[in-house]
Amino acid sequence: MASIITDECQHLILILLCFFAFFCFILFFTKPTHAVHLPPSPPSLPFIGHLHHLLFFLLDKPSYSLFDILPHKFLHTLSSKYGTLLHLRVPFFPFILVSSASVAYEIFTAHDVNVSSRNLPTNEGSVLFDTSGFVTAPYGEYFKFMKKLIVTKLLGPNAQVQSRSIRADELERLRGNLLDKASKKESVEVHKETRKLVGNIVARMAMGRSFTEENGDIESIQSLVAKANSSKIMTVLSVLILGQLEKLGISWFKKRTVFKNFDRLLERFLDEHKEKPNRDRCMDMMDVLLAVSEDENAEYKITRNNIKAFLVELFFGGIDTSVNSVQWTMVEIINNPVIAERLREEIDSVVGKSRLIQERDLPNLPYLQAVIKEALRLHPPVPIIPRGFNQGCTVGGYFVPEKTKLLVNVYAVMRDPNVWQNPLEFKPERFLTCLSSGQEEERKRQALKYLPFGSGRRGCPASSLAYMIVGTTIGMLVQCFDWRIKGEKVNTDECYTEFTQTLAYPLTFTPVTRISNFDLDKSLNT
Ligand code: HEM
Repeated sequence: MASIITDECQHLILILLCFFAFFCFILFFTKPTHAVHLPPSPPSLPFIGHLHHLLFFLLDKPSYSLFDILPHKFLHTLSSKYGTLLHLRVPFFPFILVSSASVAYEIFTAHDVNVSSRNLPTNEGSVLFDTSGFVTAPYGEYFKFMKKLIVTKLLGPNAQVQSRSIRADELERLRGNLLDKASKKESVEVHKETRKLVGNIVARMAMGRSFTEENGDIESIQSLVAKANSSKIMTVLSVLILGQLEKLGISWFKKRTVFKNFDRLLERFLDEHKEKPNRDRCMDMMDVLLAVSEDENAEYKITRNNIKAFLVELFFGGIDTSVNSVQWTMVEIINNPVIAERLREEIDSVVGKSRLIQERDLPNLPYLQAVIKEALRLHPPVPIIPRGFNQGCTVGGYFVPEKTKLLVNVYAVMRDPNVWQNPLEFKPERFLTCLSSGQEEERKRQALKYLPFGSGRRGCPASSLAYMIVGTTIGMLVQCFDWRIKGEKVNTDECYTEFTQTLAYPLTFTPVTRISNFDLDKSLNT
């Protein structure tokens, strides 16, 4: 009897082993037929796909811990080894990774509409990643309506002129602060000071209120933005992973106090704007959005949730990006004294020493523009752009199926040695070569290898506003101050927080006043 059982067991084990061997064979040695034309993939493992490459990367760089890993650098390493167009699979997130200027060019010229949705998961009822959001909106009626509104009204040329005095005011406030620090020989943390500047600008343009007003509400907005910012990475992970729970009706976002408080505050501001609209004077964005939401003839009926989500996205998308651009540009200027000298000569000769730099000076300051562009090339604040393919298409000779997610590593694209000479060097001169009017094609080609603001229909709608804020801030810092740092050079180690690439050790310097007295009439930024 015992021997019969043993025999049966042996058969069973043999059958199981055969199944297992067959399963392993299928898994490791065959490719699914539809994958024949898919972009290449690094070796993968069952269940975890390509996640183990992250482990290899960490083992290779013992200085990294899982929590300070820079995703764009990890993906850059992966693409340098396996190719600049890759198909990668990690749990919950299979995607196509693009890391070269030529493939990015092909995608943004031949497939722009097809990749104009982000296909990010959303969470109904939260202020961030809400289903009513603009940044997460698919390329459809709502997106097109809002984009037109942004380009023509909210951030359009008229809005930019009307809000000029807001930005000049805030720049003057920052200058005053630095003069005060300089007189006391106190140091400043650049990102803290510029966060106040940009935060106030965005808040005043969006809702007619400044962060630093003597007003408890705005104080609370600032602290809410800071709190919500500090949990951005957690937020994304939760959207990606816990987002699956939403499908089961379990909402994590709605319960988060920081988002609830944000929502409550915005609701009150909306009520106040509705009661006392600012429509006769300079309308802020909330006024414009409320007016559009009440317009019976509008092409699209935007909701209160649409308005709240959009305003929150402006805080999240506009502040840290600009702050980091200012910080990185100053680091490069301080670490390259020859560049600093040339920049100062340009500003002194164009603007002079009797008035403060203004926005309208920027077109006459090509070297300043080139320095900022070069800093954005080497240190893009948003190093990875998320998109999705709506329909199946061919890229680089490979087939990409519909609904595949797309990550464009713009950090890698802007260091691609095939299109950038000495890509790791900080050389603003590369942006000074003027193209003649007949070289339109070349101009387009150049633009598509330079992607700090993304590209196409989904590109950043505030790039010119950002250039104005960063340009005048850097201009003022160079024109009015010297900067005393500890040591010879600024440490340029990076970290990745709150979706943006930033300095691991924030830039700190003691301002030394160079010019303090301006002719106020001449300095008026009208
Ligand atoms: C130097 C500063 C900035 C940088 C580097 C930057 C960069 C970017 C990038 C890379 C994208 C994604 C583009 C794409 O998918 O192709 C984006 C989108 C966006 N940015 Fe900016 N940005 C900056 C400043 C701002 C500011 C100041 C605002 C507004 C106050 C803003 C509002 C937005 C919005 C609303 C989107 C979403 C566009 C869409 O989904 O269609 N950005 N930005």
